[in-house]
Amino acid sequence: MTTAVLLAAGSGERFSREVPKQLLKVAGVTVLEHSLKAFQSHEMIDQIIVVTRSDLIKDVRRIIGNKYSKVTKVVQGGETRSDSSLAAIKAIERDDSEKVLLHDAVRPLITHEIITESIHALDDYDAIDVAIPASDTIIETSGGVITSIPNRENLRRGQTPQGFRLGVLRKAYSLLEDDGTLSPTDDCGVVLHYLPEVLIGVVQGSETNIKLTYPIDSYLADRLFQLRSGQAEIQNDTNLEEFFNGKRIVIFGGSYGIGASISEIAKSLGAHVATFSRSETETNVKDSSDVERALEEAHGRYGTIDFVINTAGLLKISRIDFLTDADVEDLIGVNYLGAVNVARASFKYLKESNGGLLLFTSSSYTRGRAEYSLYSSSKAAVVNLVQALSEEWIEHGININCVNPERTQTPMRTENFGIEDPSTLLDAETVAEASLNILYSDLTGCIYDVRR
Ligand code: CTP
Ligand code: MG
Repeated sequence: MTTAVLLAAGSGERFSREVPKQLLKVAGVTVLEHSLKAFQSHEMIDQIIVVTRSDLIKDVRRIIGNKYSKVTKVVQGGETRSDSSLAAIKAIERDDSEKVLLHDAVRPLITHEIITESIHALDDYDAIDVAIPASDTIIETSGGVITSIPNRENLRRGQTPQGFRLGVLRKAYSLLEDDGTLSPTDDCGVVLHYLPEVLIGVVQGSETNIKLTYPIDSYLADRLFQLRSGQAEIQNDTNLEEFFNGKRIVIFGGSYGIGASISEIAKSLGAHVATFSRSETETNVKDSSDVERALEEAHGRYGTIDFVINTAGLLKISRIDFLTDADVEDLIGVNYLGAVNVARASFKYLKESNGGLLLFTSSSYTRGRAEYSLYSSSKAAVVNLVQALSEEWIEHGININCVNPERTQTPMRTENFGIEDPSTLLDAETVAEASLNILYSDLTGCIYDVRR
């Protein structure tokens, strides 16, 4: 039996954001919840204790709700991290021989693999740490000058979880309580200091198991979640086949390019796919009634809609002073209003199915470019829309994500750029596979880059 403790009682001084970092949303979900998910879904963990600040207890309880059935207690932490650990240790009603893992709740990218390794390592050691090699040379300083440069070969960077047999942890912490002179920054430090005879094993951590410490870390974590979502291989993945088999998918702009590829692959996985486009069904996404009619039709046909994908896009390369009123209306209408229309009309169906919506942006969203002004600013708006709706829809069980494909070989591209060296372009199938992977993942609010 293994207890997991999630430490979430810090004040995030170095992060300095209005939102406490443990409750910050990354990839659509709070940091604490990412950590909760990892331990809740791990079969070797049988209970979770969450330690948090008194002012966050209400929020934390609301997040836990009845989704995280392994959480047995939410306890109030203390002034320092070790005070918080102590509060958790006192709340664990288990035998000394049982295992416990203490994890920084602000390391949301913790993997099952590391958790498993940590639990197994406690069969060989009474205490274990998770660590990775030190990539930088570490220097020791005093008064602003170097006093020593320890050999990097022997240095590791400690992460969490840290694992213990409960008896060892209890003993070390009771000695810390009696003494009071040590100010430890982690739990292994307490054991090392008070019980030097206990061997502390080291488990291999991961470069991606980062701790949200400074504001930049939230951007890194967001990107790392995106990378993770695209890792599953679509071919030979029986889970995907099982997942998509029988699912009902509506694709706007599905007559050619990326939309057509998604349709083809989804069908090969056993999904039912209804495609709507200007050329085939005279569906124009800039017209909300067109979009509503299409969804109604698909719903009538299938009885339910699990996923909606909008690949419709319009590119016209031109300086803004050359665009006509009709061009402006079309560019914003298809690229932005289209996404809004699809999102609004899909809501009631996706709420019913706890489904997902997938929109498309372009790499130009991060930086406007001459002659693309309305295309790229509309695509930037789509990104912002996805982030906003992911928050609004989380309580309705709807995921919404956005694909950002690198330059892709599509008819729209050929029309605008002519024939280009195909080896420099992504093919539509790669983008389609990544798109299906995102629908399969449980992510929301993600802007997912697809590269060659
Ligand atoms: N922690 C805790 N109780 C404390 C201090 C820290 O439970 N009194 C937790 C944090 O919530 C975090 C983990 O310990 O999950 C690692 O701590 P750290 O990154 O230092 O977070 P903060 O202490 O919140 O940040 P800072 O040191 O910048 O104030
Ligand atoms: Mg701290």
